Amino acid sequence: MNIAIVRERFDGENRVAATPETVGKLVGLGAQVSVEKGAGLGSRMLDAEYEAAGAKIAATAGAALKGAEVVLCVRRPDAASLSGVAKGALVIGALDPYGNDKDIAALAKANVTAMSMEFMPRITRAQVMDILSSQANLAGYQGVIDAAAEFDRAMPMMMTAAGTVRPAKTFVMGAGVAGLQAIATAKRLGAVVSATDVRPAAKEQVESLGGKFVAVEDEEFKQAETAGGYAKQMSAAYQAKQAELTASHISKQDIVITTALIPGRPAPRLVTKAMVESMAPGSIIVDLAAERGGNVELTVPGKIVEHNGVKIIGYTNVQGRIPTTASQALRAQSVGVPDHIDRCQNCWIGN
Ligand code: NAI
Repeated sequence: MNIAIVRERFDGENRVAATPETVGKLVGLGAQVSVEKGAGLGSRMLDAEYEAAGAKIAATAGAALKGAEVVLCVRRPDAASLSGVAKGALVIGALDPYGNDKDIAALAKANVTAMSMEFMPRITRAQVMDILSSQANLAGYQGVIDAAAEFDRAMPMMMTAAGTVRPAKTFVMGAGVAGLQAIATAKRLGAVVSATDVRPAAKEQVESLGGKFVAVEDEEFKQAETAGGYAKQMSAAYQAKQAELTASHISKQDIVITTALIPGRPAPRLVTKAMVESMAPGSIIVDLAAERGGNVELTVPGKIVEHNGVKIIGYTNVQGRIPTTASQALRAQSVGVPDHIDRCQNCWIGN
């Protein structure tokens, strides 16, 4: 099996789809791996390390992709760049298919089989390949680190001879994978943490991490989780009740971290301009849903904006802000999938 790994072309993307360690595992499985020169540099992974792991370093992306049967990527590649790959080659990555129909159709026309890792079933057997979880977990962590870096006060309570510093009140909106890691990270930094979600199952998870759960727990809330464990789009009436409850809570917070998403839809709008204006100057909002349209009315994707002294951090690709760990966590796709294809006699892929 010929496997190619190329440098990511997306602006600001420092992750790489395979590390020297995972390349070593693929070579150990009998694959020939071609890595484009400099592909790992954004994650501090050197060509020499890939070479030592058994990869061939190709001078250009075209040379790495020539004859490839499997292409490992972080982001969706441009179909035109895949012209040299083997017919029917598998392209495996976070292909972000929702709302990008034209690019996905171009991939289909390019004679490749595209595997969008976001669609990997989140079942126990496939957990090793669940990149949504591995990357969202890191985004939740980094979101709190970004908030702490912009916050001009300490996060934990400190009782010193010079006086008492009160702990930062932190509110996490959306308690899925990213939100739960944000709660855990903010707790480790000493914040007083509360959180909300529309799924009832989230309540116990928030409380098990030491957070206070804040939500409108009506009949609609009790039915808000799909069979797949995701949030449903809530009615306008529920959203109004939710906004009323969270508005008074947000006004007392120092830090708000929003992570709410609904698969295949724009992110729900949870924090209005008026809510931002209710917060004290110096407060911080981190909108981890910025890439999907944002949970906060004032978010500008990719930027930090300040409104009445409140900073709204709208970084996109937050997991890519810790690229070395994020690339390591992508081992899921770089080893798990090709290994599975190679071994599985019953799999439709590759047969
Ligand atoms: P996600 O990224 O789709 O959404 C993030 C969170 O936002 C979710 O908890 C969702 O309920 C919440 N949300 C949506 N609309 C909201 C609103 N209006 N207000 C407040 N919160 C709102 O979710 P993620 O992180 O992908 O997790 C989805 C589910 O999958 C969870 O139940 C999680 O525990 C489960 N899961 C299961 C795994 C497994 O068993 N292998 C692995 C990973 C996740």
